[in-house]
Amino acid sequence: MGNFFPRWTNWVPLKIAVCLGFVLVGVAVGASYYFTPKYTRVGYEPTQPVAFSHKQHVGELGLDCRYCHSYVEQSSHSNVPTNQTCYNCHGPDKGQVKKDSPKLAKVREANITGQPIEWVKVHKAPDYVYFNHSVHVNRGVSCVSCHGKINEMEVVKHAEPQSMGWCLDCHREPEKNLRPLDQITNLNYKPEQLNRDAFYQGLADKGAKFEDLGKTVLNGKPAEKLPADLNALVALATDTYGPTVTQQEVGSQLKHNWRIHAPEDCTTCHR
Ligand code: HEC
Ligand code: HEC
Ligand code: HEC
Ligand code: HEC
Ligand code: HEC
Repeated sequence: MGNFFPRWTNWVPLKIAVCLGFVLVGVAVGASYYFTPKYTRVGYEPTQPVAFSHKQHVGELGLDCRYCHSYVEQSSHSNVPTNQTCYNCHGPDKGQVKKDSPKLAKVREANITGQPIEWVKVHKAPDYVYFNHSVHVNRGVSCVSCHGKINEMEVVKHAEPQSMGWCLDCHREPEKNLRPLDQITNLNYKPEQLNRDAFYQGLADKGAKFEDLGKTVLNGKPAEKLPADLNALVALATDTYGPTVTQQEVGSQLKHNWRIHAPEDCTTCHR
């Protein structure tokens, strides 16, 4: 009987199994892309143990995110501040801010007991997802792209879905979100505030050639002559993008000059 079927059929079950494997992964990916409720988390806004307001501390007092989230540029993880950070201003000493406020009772209590305040986590990637803050914020992606306008929130809420499809949307077209590094924690930044001359001069100071910057502006369009100095480059950019600096302009230059590559293969985020 053994010779009744040709030899290659021995491999058929294996082939079917492998194919099925691929199909299942495909279905899982498709399902997660299309059906994981992209927006269920959006709006999640737990009640925190202390009524800490980002609107007040960032929007009104002007504190920088890194004053409290001090590891966000160095580490994969963005820390939430310890009680000591609050005590820099709300401690018991004379002249401290609101030192007797009932709203700060838990902060004072934490300082006596040494127990950290139990802030409720708002954003949480599943354990099987690898995420790293520093690779994003040191490469021109602002907090606002992933967390929304925290500086206007009384209570932090989930502003973006942070689903796989959402991660990938940006990885495919990062130029839509890149900005100069000194603007990462400025959540009110708009590209049109940039001075075009200063932007291009800054890139040239870092070693970019005017001709190459011009090529990126042209984006494949033919030109008689590439710009050889700042004035010619700015004239070309004004011609291409209009009188004010645009996101497309900033993003495409930064992507090219910083050699930004946001990977899309599975092992980038599932290790
Ligand atoms: C004075 C300190 C302070 C400053 C400044 C500050 N934060 Fe926070 N942040 C906190 C504390 C405390 C929490 C935890 C309680 C909460 O969620 O409100 C927090 C929570 C967060 C969370 C939610 C964390 C989670 O659980 O998912 C995000 C996102 C965040 N901050 C972003 C920012 C951004 C962006 C800035 C700058 C625009 C900023 N923060 C500035 C103290 C600060
Ligand atoms: C750089 C100084 C500074 C730091 C650090 C700081 N705060 Fe404040 N905080 C203020 C100021 C200023 C006010 C506004 C006081 C006012 O309204 O006159 C304030 C107000 C508050 C209030 C409202 C108090 C009330 O009675 O209205 C709370 C609650 C509060 N902060 C919590 C915190 C917590 C929690 C932290 C640590 C995560 C923190 N603050 C860190 C300066 C600071
Ligand atoms: C590319 C998207 C992205 C950017 C940019 C980003 N975050 Fe996050 N952030 C996330 C994700 C995703 C999580 C959940 C991570 C996790 O669970 O490991 C998170 C979590 C946090 C947390 C909660 C950490 C914890 O464990 O409680 C804080 C605080 C935070 N981010 C602050 C910031 C600040 C401040 C900036 C800007 C300086 C920033 N993030 C920029 C995506 C981003
Ligand atoms: C708003 C844009 C944006 C979003 C949203 C975003 N990323 Fe990224 N990500 C980038 C960019 C840009 C890079 C490439 C940085 C570079 O070239 O060094 C990157 C790189 C990475 C890397 C590679 C880091 C390395 O070690 O090489 C990982 C991992 C990653 N992102 C995970 C995530 C995950 C997970 C999410 C969703 C929770 C996410 N990203 C959402 C823009 C984004
Ligand atoms: C840029 C980061 C990133 C890349 C690249 C990526 N994923 Fe994901 N993936 C995520 C995140 C984030 C989640 C969690 C989604 C959520 O919590 O809503 C996820 C979830 C999943 C899930 C679980 C779905 C569910 O609903 O539980 C599967 C399966 C998966 N990914 C497979 C893949 C495969 C296969 C690839 C390669 C084609 C891939 N992923 C590439 C970020 C990524």
